[in-house]
Amino acid sequence: MTSHRIAPSILSADFARLGDEVERVIAAGADWIHFDVMDNHYVPNLTIGPQVAQAIKPYCQRADGRPVPLDVHLMVQPVDALASAFAKAGADLVSFHPEASAHVDRTLQLIRAEGCRAGLVFNPATPLDVLPWVIDKIDLVLIMSVNPGFGGQSFIDSALRKVEQARRLIDASGRDIRLEVDGGIKVDNIRRVADAGADTFVAGSAIFGQPDYKAVIDAMRAELG
Ligand code: DX5
Ligand code: ZN
Repeated sequence: MTSHRIAPSILSADFARLGDEVERVIAAGADWIHFDVMDNHYVPNLTIGPQVAQAIKPYCQRADGRPVPLDVHLMVQPVDALASAFAKAGADLVSFHPEASAHVDRTLQLIRAEGCRAGLVFNPATPLDVLPWVIDKIDLVLIMSVNPGFGGQSFIDSALRKVEQARRLIDASGRDIRLEVDGGIKVDNIRRVADAGADTFVAGSAIFGQPDYKAVIDAMRAELG
């Protein structure tokens, strides 16, 4: 049976009280903390850097001390120097967009050499072409179901077909690779995303836009069954 992970995106959290927000969403049942890094170059928005990752890292644990993975999604170009900086700041997973790196294979090796799990992110119009060539070096495939840059956008349905394709490639590889989807995920569509083959679900506005984070995460898990 698939073990599902829910990864709230702190992009929609209250940045003035980020430590509290991370603590609250973990208490509400978050499995991973999704951390969106935007550089106003690769994407038209600017967010948070390695110092903020380092500051929230101590909050990325459950009440009993078990760690909660910090899932860093880099929407930056170039990638390598920031990937290393986030690894040193405490990232557990670092993923990047293949278009943003001149040497995708080298960037993957660099992330793993820093001791992190490495991921590749595919935009809505980006095919999975590079995936078979580097599948032995990745731990995560992230399918974007919105164009990166902003929270609160609507889910793009063609992502479901890409998730199905990625699922086939991952299964054929026989490797332990998580398949994550990011953008526009809500209680009312998470089941369809899971049925397409995803096992990890990013949700920003759906969770942080509601007063009761646990109610949303519980409702998502109920949909996942
Ligand atoms: C978009 C980010 C997402 C974003 C998702 O560029 O990568 O992680 O926070 O937000 P929602 O869930 O609101 O679409
Ligand atoms: Zn993201």
